[in-house]
Amino acid sequence: MTRGKFITFEGGEGSGKSTQVALLAARLRKTGIATIVTREPGGTPLGESIRTLVLETAPETVTELLLFAAARAEHVAKVIRPALDTGTWVVCDRFIDSTRVYQGLLGGAPADLIGALETGTVGSTIPDLTFVLDLDPAQGLKRAEARGALSRFDSAHEDYHHRLREGFRDIAKTEPGRCLLLDGGRAPELIADDIWTAVESRLPDEVR
Ligand code: TYD
Repeated sequence: MTRGKFITFEGGEGSGKSTQVALLAARLRKTGIATIVTREPGGTPLGESIRTLVLETAPETVTELLLFAAARAEHVAKVIRPALDTGTWVVCDRFIDSTRVYQGLLGGAPADLIGALETGTVGSTIPDLTFVLDLDPAQGLKRAEARGALSRFDSAHEDYHHRLREGFRDIAKTEPGRCLLLDGGRAPELIADDIWTAVESRLPDEVR
């Protein structure tokens, strides 16, 4: 049995991740590839409870980091790894890079703690491919506002969102083998085409 592929989407608020997650999953399924869609924080009953808890309260950064790590440990062990092991592809809205940027870069959580938690929760289940949707924060916030989706994380001030953007861009630059930076300011269909081209060229075995 060929192991499934693990694809994650990252980016700031209103960057269009959810739309692209759905479009990619539909295209993979149309190609005959068994695919599940999932998200973080969340993905399991425990993870969804943690998501509600964290998004509705305002924990300290380290508390938040530990709670998200707990959700991730469950998610990887009970959903992501078993799916990949049986040949199913996994498309996930946010993963390790969100922790690195939100809790690490912006929250100031120590890098060694983040690294240790990443190793402990993810282990070798690193994404095969990560799409980073890059968008001017003003445009992203406008989009998020328009759909009434401003969470506690979204309503922070503008400088915060610029640093967020830079954080994701830096990761994409540092790990070009895994990450692809995409201009999220374009029409969804154009972005989806770029995503499909990358999937075809980087993960060709089952797709072509
Ligand atoms: P959500 O409403 O799903 O945001 P979005 O639609 O932008 O994905 O809320 C998830 C929030 O959780 C988001 O603002 C980023 C944050 N988050 C972290 O801070 N650390 C993490 O490890 C993850 C996965 C998410």
